[in-house]
Amino acid sequence: MSDRGNKNLWGGRFTGETDRGFADYNRSFGFDRRLFAVDVRASIGHCDGLAGAEVLTAGESNEIKSALQAILDRGQTDTNYFDDASSEDVHSFVEARLVEMVGDTGRKLHTGRSRNDQVATDLRLWLREEIDRIALALRSAQETLLDLAAAHPDAAIPGYTHLQRAQPVLFAHWCLAYCEMLARDRERFGDVRQRVNVLPLGSAALAGTSYPIDREAIARALGFDGISRNSLDAVSDRDFCIEFASAASLVMMHLSRLAEDIILYSTTEFGFLELSDAVATGSSLMPQNKSGRVFGHLVALLTTMKGLPLAYNKDMQEDKEAVFDTADTVSASLAVTATVLRNVRLNKARACEAASHGYLNATELADYLVRKGMPFREAHETVGRIVVHAIERGVELDELGLADLKSFSRLIGPDVFDSLSLEQTLATKSQSGGTAPERVAEELISARTRL
Ligand code: ARG
Repeated sequence: MSDRGNKNLWGGRFTGETDRGFADYNRSFGFDRRLFAVDVRASIGHCDGLAGAEVLTAGESNEIKSALQAILDRGQTDTNYFDDASSEDVHSFVEARLVEMVGDTGRKLHTGRSRNDQVATDLRLWLREEIDRIALALRSAQETLLDLAAAHPDAAIPGYTHLQRAQPVLFAHWCLAYCEMLARDRERFGDVRQRVNVLPLGSAALAGTSYPIDREAIARALGFDGISRNSLDAVSDRDFCIEFASAASLVMMHLSRLAEDIILYSTTEFGFLELSDAVATGSSLMPQNKSGRVFGHLVALLTTMKGLPLAYNKDMQEDKEAVFDTADTVSASLAVTATVLRNVRLNKARACEAASHGYLNATELADYLVRKGMPFREAHETVGRIVVHAIERGVELDELGLADLKSFSRLIGPDVFDSLSLEQTLATKSQSGGTAPERVAEELISARTRL
């Protein structure tokens, strides 16, 4: 027995056959079958709710639940199970299979429920699990960043503004910068999870249900933190999907910046990093390639929801592919990022060399003059003139002679050369958040504990 078109679902309301093309256009089973397992689990929860409300006898609910369990097992072992089904969506598929197994008793399961609260419940269950998976992937990516930082505690690289060398920073400081971004991403997903993990079931089509179903008990059984407070809202909003796509977009944005940094630093021009063959394809590094795809899903979800009158609209069936692909893309990108990070080699000599050339210690010279009593603005101007002079002579600041330096300011003494060294330039950035080796070492420990 099959459940072709809408005939079985709406059998009583409609008399004619549904047009084939129309049915296909409406059908979501091709993609929403990914909700199969959560749909069955939510149905088991609903079945218990109906038994508690005495809509089903204990015997009926046990019969339905064992059939649902068998359907779940079959779906998870038999890959052909979904093949010939012409169901409109995953909910009608599961119900049709149930009715095949237990007949009329199975037809009682949809009491006090609608596909509207069902799909919202399924999607929330599904997203909750994806969020937990993504949080773990974020943590692994953070761990690989920390490992990379720990492997190179004293290597420096130039820090850039507008890709101009500005000031030296520790390579570990750069690693920790991305680690912080991913930490906030993880927090964001934790935040999204709280709002995802609310049970809509019991809202039915849009007005709520008249059966005395214990929604709190169903919520507990399905691992939800609470129940939705308004049935219209519960079946009609997809803000939780949009939040998810937004948190995912931020991850992708961060990963794309990390990827571009790695791409730049691996070029012949920079030469700080080297990628091993495992991850060096022609146009490598997926995260920067795939971020636009996730941003697109975010905009698609917003556009789908904009202006939709309450409550449920079939437009919302469009949420699934966006949400599924967002989750898949973020997970895959995080995994690839971790792989790339495990396969980069730092060319410490070249990086430190770059960090010591190009007047990256100019700010340090200004700070030196400030320590000697010169107002910062004046120090800034003085250093500007010294840099022009050094450029004309084709030397670095610390290669100018003392007399030469003194001609710009009498405040400059022989101790200036210590101040201009790479070690000193780094060491003086010792306030919290700075790149001084002692601060970075502390941050490394702190970041590990926070993981
Ligand atoms: N497959 C549908 C969806 O994804 C289920 C809800 C159908 N509800 C309805 N009133 N037609 O949104």
